[in-house]
Amino acid sequence: MIYLDNAATSYPKPELVYRRVDEVLRTVAGNPGRGGHRGALEASRIVFHAREAVSRLTGIVDSSRIVFTKNATEAINIALKGLGLKPPDHIITTSFEHNSVVKTVGRLEARGVRVTRLKPDKDGFIIPGDIEAAVTETTRLVCISHASNVFGTIQPIKHIGSFCATHGIPFMVDAAQTLGAFPVDLGEINIDILAATGHKALFGPQGTGFLYVREGLEPDPLVDGGTGDLETVLEMPDRLEAGTMNTPGIGGLSAGVEFLLKEGVEKIREFEAGLMGRLLKGLEGIEGVSVIGTKDPSKRVSLVSFNMEGKNPVEAGIKLDTEHSIMVRCGTHCAPYAHRAAGSYPEGAIRVSPGYFNRPEEIDEFLRAIKNLKEKN
Ligand code: ALA
Repeated sequence: MIYLDNAATSYPKPELVYRRVDEVLRTVAGNPGRGGHRGALEASRIVFHAREAVSRLTGIVDSSRIVFTKNATEAINIALKGLGLKPPDHIITTSFEHNSVVKTVGRLEARGVRVTRLKPDKDGFIIPGDIEAAVTETTRLVCISHASNVFGTIQPIKHIGSFCATHGIPFMVDAAQTLGAFPVDLGEINIDILAATGHKALFGPQGTGFLYVREGLEPDPLVDGGTGDLETVLEMPDRLEAGTMNTPGIGGLSAGVEFLLKEGVEKIREFEAGLMGRLLKGLEGIEGVSVIGTKDPSKRVSLVSFNMEGKNPVEAGIKLDTEHSIMVRCGTHCAPYAHRAAGSYPEGAIRVSPGYFNRPEEIDEFLRAIKNLKEKN
């Protein structure tokens, strides 16, 4: 079988990740931050090392500002719901966000928060001038995905981050599709809030993710609990991490990030951009195929959503699996508004997303399968 659905979750994981999860489950007898015996201390060390590994990868200086979550969706919810936004506060976001942002922002909007949704250009890029034009006196947040899980187009976050810093507006980035696959260095880019998942390009297990919030922005917890009594004021990161954590998962995530640091994000990026180039070139040669987002592989992450004239994408996905043993994700990708922005709603699209463990020949095999589906009618 050929797995080309790494934008949904990466597979396989580096060997070290499997080993680490197994090792933590077997050898660590205790909960992080609960109790003082050696097992509990070891569990705390595992979580601490994971925070440090994420810090090294992202250039985050203070690792206590990193909070582990079960996924990017939870991270996004903590930030958006916890910041205390209320009318007449204003959020600038885009029309191509994933539902984790769409639905959370929508809930705030229903309570009177004002929202501007910027439309992308034909290649899927946000025009930074549009952000400038949308800012009002009550703008309290700019929230965009680094790369949409439908378009794949990489947004100019450095530029947007500088603009937000100059205007004193917190800048939040959903890096679910980019972190690990594309360099993100907070030493160079102004990002106040960063949400990411662990199980995609960071190679961690499912059920892991994190939120970074810079000092000075102190979201209320989404989940209460943890140590102390009613009067206890919990500090970061404990404040946003109530309850026993997913220590084996976080250990696995740590191993995934260690793999990335050793391998080098630039090297992975270069390899995946090569696969993208091959894929885009191949798709371009098939009549009736229309690609969503930029055709320039250097400006997109390793995913391509496309449609074939006269073919339903979900049915095509089933055939790719059952007749060709190729796994891709088809439909609307939990991002119906992104598909509206792309003009591919309600059917959605076929999305193919190679990863670091795919080989160029697998791209060729996929292209042959698409030609075969096309010809069969
Ligand atoms: N959000 C994930 C995707 O794009 C699961 O497939």
